[in-house]
Amino acid sequence: EKGGYEHFMLKEIFEQPRSISDCMRGRLDANRGHLVLGGLREYINKIVNADRILIVACGTSWHAGTVAEYIFEEFTRIPVEVEYASEFRYRNPIIKEGDVVIAISQSGETADTLAAIELAKSKGAIIFGVCNVVGSSIARASHAGSYTHAGPEIGVASTKAFTAQVTVLTMVALLVAHRKGSITEARYHELLTDLEQIPVKVEKALALNKQIEYIADIFKDARNFLYLGRGYNFPVALEGALKLKEISYIHAEGYPAAEMKHGPIALIDEEMPVVFIATHDSSYEKIVSNIQEVKARKGKVIAVVTEGDTLIPKMADFIIEVPATNEAIMPLISVIPLQLLSYHIAVMRGCNVDQPRNLAKSVTVE
Ligand code: F6R
Repeated sequence: EKGGYEHFMLKEIFEQPRSISDCMRGRLDANRGHLVLGGLREYINKIVNADRILIVACGTSWHAGTVAEYIFEEFTRIPVEVEYASEFRYRNPIIKEGDVVIAISQSGETADTLAAIELAKSKGAIIFGVCNVVGSSIARASHAGSYTHAGPEIGVASTKAFTAQVTVLTMVALLVAHRKGSITEARYHELLTDLEQIPVKVEKALALNKQIEYIADIFKDARNFLYLGRGYNFPVALEGALKLKEISYIHAEGYPAAEMKHGPIALIDEEMPVVFIATHDSSYEKIVSNIQEVKARKGKVIAVVTEGDTLIPKMADFIIEVPATNEAIMPLISVIPLQLLSYHIAVMRGCNVDQPRNLAKSVTVE
């Protein structure tokens, strides 16, 4: 059942070229300029005309929501708030009739996310669900939605569900932006093509497995890790840190790279591994200076960079080169090495990666 892999988590990481394709199948055809999400048809105009969009989720799904915030705001120009479902539901949130709430949940059973949408619904919001499990409670409680079609996720640490969530949310954002006219035809078609090529590029990122295992061996005994990214790679830093802490029990923190100066920089010494997600995008020059700041304090830098980068390899201790793509969908590629890094470190530390202590696959109590 693990398809020859040692753990479900590894199987699910390696399934991603396939699960992302499954998620796009029948929905996206870049050659024909075709993008359709059946579950959106009835409600697309409500999203196009929305004054704002709220996203509610927990954990890794919240990270996917944060990637979506950046994508939606850039392409649709609709203001987006991403909320932890547990905070949102208890603070008497401001919800108006016609507000659009997107709920993201792999299991579709997370208690706080379910309660958050019930609350929003009672105040007249339109609920759009992005779930993996068909027929789950959140899927049923939503007015409309799109399934991620990633297939069953058994490993407690979420991997393929995350990339499928980001894929669905990107398709929703592009559809809304296209309908709204807030994206040019050229850019729209370029992004459809880039999205369609993601599975092949994820396959290339997976081919770095051995190299990542080698890096994992060097850092497996670290007591702390810092993950830093900017822009679209900021939520990837959060996700990388979460993956490491939940399965290897190493303390890790994800931060927007520029926030480092406001506190975490005090932690940096020769013992501190810092993972930079530093692919070639609009914040590249800025993150290069952040890498220099860490090196100046003797931190150990592991950098995820775009293939062909010549500058960061001169500064970093270890580099992981991933294929280039549009910066808005880079998280689909840049997260892969971080999933593998946490997996190998956890295995080397003898941890139960598929069932980490204290964690359950679906959190049905608050
Ligand atoms: C992390 C992880 C959890 C879940 C969170 C939400 O790897 O698995 O953080 O992402 O419990 O679960 P769902 O998406 O089922 O609502």
